Amino acid sequence: MADTHLAIILGTRPEMIKLSPVIRVCEQRDISYTLVHTGQHYSDELDSVFFERLDLPEPEYHLDIGSGSHGEQTGKMLIGIEDVILTEDVEFVLVQGDTNSVLAGAIATSKLDAELGHIEAGLRSFDRNMPEEINRVVTDHVGDYLFAPTEETASLLRDEGVDESRIYVTGNTVVDAVQAYRQIAAEKSSVLDEHALSPGEFVLMTAHRAENVDNPDRLTDLLAGIDRVARELDHPVIYPIHPRTQDRLNEFDVTVPDAIRPVDPLDFLDFLRLEDTASLVITDSGGVQEETCILQTPCVTVRDSTERPETVAVGANVVVGTDPSDIANGARKQLAESTDWEAPFGDGNAAERILDVIR
Ligand code: UD1
Ligand code: UDP
Repeated sequence: MADTHLAIILGTRPEMIKLSPVIRVCEQRDISYTLVHTGQHYSDELDSVFFERLDLPEPEYHLDIGSGSHGEQTGKMLIGIEDVILTEDVEFVLVQGDTNSVLAGAIATSKLDAELGHIEAGLRSFDRNMPEEINRVVTDHVGDYLFAPTEETASLLRDEGVDESRIYVTGNTVVDAVQAYRQIAAEKSSVLDEHALSPGEFVLMTAHRAENVDNPDRLTDLLAGIDRVARELDHPVIYPIHPRTQDRLNEFDVTVPDAIRPVDPLDFLDFLRLEDTASLVITDSGGVQEETCILQTPCVTVRDSTERPETVAVGANVVVGTDPSDIANGARKQLAESTDWEAPFGDGNAAERILDVIR
């Protein structure tokens, strides 16, 4: 490892969270690495708050790319990342997940004399309308080391003809992150008091996925369905709003129903505390489907597909789309079931395993 110059690329909130265990293990093992921030997320509440809370080091390279169309954003990142790889003589690049930052890191690396490791490889929603699905497929097919979180995701890679020698089943680093921060969140977060919430007596929701919030009909349906759940349960719904969604609510002039309490995006400790104590979580987030499964909190996913079917298989999650009746039925079903499932994403040592492989 000492001879391998490693670069770790991140750009968005979920990458900061899921790469934090990898960065921690690098620090513990004295592995030198160059941290590259694409700047895909830049608002304090999606960026600096996570660097502070997760104790992440200042990136050596900040590309400051920001928002834009897929082509503009990915293209600018590609140029910036290529430059870093060449300047630093990088031999191994690590990316995590399915964002445009991952796609740019993958394409840049694959055309240079460096190897690519993809953390969270093999996930598939089989919906090519999702930009994330395109990013996953491309990254897995140009990657040299594919760190699949589960046996199921490894099989999906084999089904696509990926050679066995490139596949490593490691677990998901989200387990490492939840294990590292769950207790700290319980001790330090005052989010329940701040929002006058009692454990087990509120619903947490998030919705930011482009296919939901960029479509006014789906966004309106989704909110109507969650409003119905809130009224049936007589529980408040707390809704940390992603800036993309806030922009769309303003643009489409869609009003959030009264039973749903919009709040600014939360830092990881506060959000984790809410996930841990909510009666139910309703979401279209990938990471939130995993975290609720790990925390034994029932989840309803307001999407037409999921690339995390393991959560559904164990009974932690149900995928209902955005029809209001289906959302209400999904919530009833999840609340009626027991929550003693076994989480399928590993033992919390994924980061250790990934760095063992790279070494
Ligand atoms: C991106 C990822 C998505 C991931 C999400 C995590 C892609 C294609 N999408 O979606 O897979 O689930 O991050 O949260 O990579 N904005 C801000 N401040 C920011 C960042 C974004 O206000 O710091 C607003 C801008 O209006 C921007 C919009 O959000 O146009 C969308 O940002 P973008 O990074 O393109 O995609 P996300 O929706 O954040
Ligand atoms: N998250 C957070 N604060 C919030 C909403 C989400 O810290 O207000 C965390 C959440 O715990 C999870 C990650 O952000 O780890 C998920 O990010 P997001 O839903 O934006 O992206 P996705 O996982 O869908 O790519």
